[in-house]
Amino acid sequence: MSPALTLVLCGNLPESSQGRAFIIKSVLPQTYFYSISIISNSLLLLTYHFVYFKDPLNCNMQVETIQGASLRARYKKVRASSEHICKPLGKEDYVVQPVVDVSPPKWHLAHVTWFFETFLLMPFKADYKIYDDDYSYVFNSYYETVGKRVLRADRGNLTRPTVEDVYTYRQYVDQAMEDLLADDFEPTPRFLEVFELGLQHEQQHQELLVTDIKYILGHNPLFPNYFKTNRPDTANSPADPANFLPVSEGLYTIGHQQPGFCFDNELGVHQVYLHGFGIMDRLVTNGEYLEFMKAGGYKDFKYWLMEGWEWVKAEKIQAPMYWYEVSGEWHSYTLRGLQPLDWQAPVTHISYYEAEAFARWSGKRLPTEFEWEAACTTYVKEIPPMAQFQEEGRYLPTGTDPHGYQFYGDAWEWTSSAYASYPYFKTQPGALGEYNGKFMINQMVLRGGSCATPRDHIRPTYRNFFHPHLRWQFTGIRLAESHE
Ligand SMILES: [Fe+2]
Repeated sequence: MSPALTLVLCGNLPESSQGRAFIIKSVLPQTYFYSISIISNSLLLLTYHFVYFKDPLNCNMQVETIQGASLRARYKKVRASSEHICKPLGKEDYVVQPVVDVSPPKWHLAHVTWFFETFLLMPFKADYKIYDDDYSYVFNSYYETVGKRVLRADRGNLTRPTVEDVYTYRQYVDQAMEDLLADDFEPTPRFLEVFELGLQHEQQHQELLVTDIKYILGHNPLFPNYFKTNRPDTANSPADPANFLPVSEGLYTIGHQQPGFCFDNELGVHQVYLHGFGIMDRLVTNGEYLEFMKAGGYKDFKYWLMEGWEWVKAEKIQAPMYWYEVSGEWHSYTLRGLQPLDWQAPVTHISYYEAEAFARWSGKRLPTEFEWEAACTTYVKEIPPMAQFQEEGRYLPTGTDPHGYQFYGDAWEWTSSAYASYPYFKTQPGALGEYNGKFMINQMVLRGGSCATPRDHIRPTYRNFFHPHLRWQFTGIRLAESHE
């Protein structure tokens, strides 16, 4: 059997449901399939797949292990997605940093490569030779443990290494990873843990690539079309009148319990008591947000938190990011250029302050992150096929998810919860302990993923977090109401 066919078989097989469990399943009459998953600290560390062939040629039973091939395939798929997102870019697009929060695409491509080099190749590949000793200084993001690094605000000053240098660096690391992940590679549990973290980390940066590219092009006065096509986006965004889904009062279990990867900030499973509440069965639309604007939402302090009102005045905020009034008609910058606003689509690119003000104006409130998780797991058991994720390649929230209540994809949803550690949260040892925990201050939690999130990167317990004034991500609103 060819490795490719073997991989297809594995893709159709169920994952192990519990740690340290053996699942034995015969997938074809002439084969046995064995899958062994090992889970530690709730992270899926490793899945071994073995295919045994029942002596089709009257010879002894053949045993094939596909672990190395499986790891290589996953690595290549994730790495290719990052480069796919950058394909429409011109060289100049790769380099600029218009604001501190937006990193140059070139930097993202190099930084995620540095992550694999630093945390996998250096500790786990005995003969590995560092590509360039200076790269850690320019492509380390925030790991104090690793050493000094260029200021975040100065990433746009890095005309060197060039774009070509960065792609060459990626090829060098990719080749080393491929060599490491040979068919006979026997990874340790720690290797597999960090390997998966490296892939998930690159997926996080893929979302940042999309939103940073949108910011770079969307703040160019010519509003360039990233897709380089005049084809308009044809999606319709039907938004039925909103209803509120009831969620009963009671104790709910919060945090990651399922098999598969999660970040450390989702660990610390615990119970939370919730009063009965209702939660909107879809996201707030552009049309509904316009009503808030028409009602003077940006002009009346009474809807705003004090910090939010100061932000509105200081930054002269009058509309969501990327909204422009052209000849009396509202348009928004999408990656297809300036387009008439789709009033049925979810409102996005708003700050926490705006989401909170809209909720006050509506006479409702934002859900807590615990209410969001309880509602999502109550009403949506699996991510719906129609949910809008990165793979659709449109990078445009549309609201065409009538059965999943839009809990997944389209837009990250601001919650009223401050980003803090769960009970029992543990900081991991070493540099990777800096991944999440040190950011648990002055940020708000968002849930659900967006149209720029990879579909296999999201889950109901995923906790995203941003400072309340930021709005260059695909961020939206879902309202909640308290039951008497
Ligand atoms: Fe990073």
